[in-house]
Amino acid sequence: MNENGNNREQWGSRVGFILACLGSAVGLGNIWRFSTTAGENGGGAFLVVYLLIVLLIGIPVVMAEFTIGRKAQSDAVGAFQKLAPGKPWFIAGFMGVASSFIILSFYAVVAGWVMKYFFGYITGALVNVPENDFTGYFVNFIGKPVEPVLWQFIFMAMTIGIVVVGVQKGIEASNKFLMPMLGILLVVLAIYSLTLGGAKEGLTFLFSPDWSKLSDPQLYLEALGQAFFSLSLGMGALITYGGYLKQENKLPTAALSVGVLDTFVAVLAGILIFPAVFAFGLDPAGGAGLVFMTLPNVFDQMAFGGLVGAAFFFLLFAAALSSSVSLLEVAVAYFMRKFDWNRKKAVLIIGSIIFVLGIPSSISQGAVPITVMDRDFLTFMDELSGNILLPLGGLFIALFMGWGVKKADALRDSDFGNTVIGHLWFWSVRVLAPVAILLIFLNKIGIIG
Ligand code: TRP
Repeated sequence: MNENGNNREQWGSRVGFILACLGSAVGLGNIWRFSTTAGENGGGAFLVVYLLIVLLIGIPVVMAEFTIGRKAQSDAVGAFQKLAPGKPWFIAGFMGVASSFIILSFYAVVAGWVMKYFFGYITGALVNVPENDFTGYFVNFIGKPVEPVLWQFIFMAMTIGIVVVGVQKGIEASNKFLMPMLGILLVVLAIYSLTLGGAKEGLTFLFSPDWSKLSDPQLYLEALGQAFFSLSLGMGALITYGGYLKQENKLPTAALSVGVLDTFVAVLAGILIFPAVFAFGLDPAGGAGLVFMTLPNVFDQMAFGGLVGAAFFFLLFAAALSSSVSLLEVAVAYFMRKFDWNRKKAVLIIGSIIFVLGIPSSISQGAVPITVMDRDFLTFMDELSGNILLPLGGLFIALFMGWGVKKADALRDSDFGNTVIGHLWFWSVRVLAPVAILLIFLNKIGIIG
């Protein structure tokens, strides 16, 4: 029995919980996906919409997930069943568990590429790329049938290794030291990138909005999807993590820290990447390979670039690992409770299934042309989860908080109490977030706008 009167695992401390949530939030989404999405959607205008969405919708929904999780002390599905027995809200939890399979399947593929680059810098292979053709190097690598799958396998094995150890000794401990390291390195690299000669164009691209871009409905959908993806929202990951939290640990400042720091890391990654993109005459709308084709050029110009490249990809790997751990934990927590599996059994079975599910994403990058709706399979899985499943999950979570429980209970259980900010929060999850998510969907499908 623990202090909450149940037998579930618990975080060791509140800081450990925040760092684990930050570890979940900060990942490939901030560096790889943010730069890609911002680049393809015009930079500055995207950033403005993105920041507004994080503040007005993202952080309030983070709070909703924390509140649900800590109160219920259960997993993504069980939490809804416990707080609203007999009502259909738990379907949102099922969608979340399904999303965890989908997201982790392709996430591990990209993380595998990161590992390959890390070892490429360690061994010098990436330092000696002929004619500095980093684009050719990348396209050639991801187009191979077997090697990327092996890296994906290694990455999944490591994710499994951490989740098997458990909440406190595995997840919490690994995050405590990697997050601060990642922050420091990003700052150093961003400053260096600004000296490369593309600073003016890069910063203009990222920070001075071309307002005409705001007429594109796709921009809002992408910004919403990116916000949910980056904050680990909409699939019960934060419900699951909140479920290991002691009742006395306060939520609002935790949610704010996670939201602000995650966004800070994404903007910092933009400051690192876009000046470099312009300095080397590359296309900011370069797509999923931006990080892998652009940054090697930066490292190539630096003194000790090989070392810095190795450090960068190691930390990106670490960030990806702490995120993939949270993705796996969502499904693991559910299966452990539902089928009474022990942690080891759940982790091994689910981890293996997700690995296999990721293989089509990997080989769709050139080896075998698997496409769905005109997209390669990886991009399809990414957009399906990011632009549809997560916002939909977030919609249900907001609706549950805003309409499925009494306002007084929501304010009490969130630790806001009867405060102005509490009422604003409740208004966001009750009206603003659901309406905004719906409008963005409808607008995109073309029903309005
Ligand atoms: N937020 C992570 C990133 O930015 C990815 C991630 C981890 C995630 N857990 C999640 C996304 C849960 C959605 C839901 O890389």
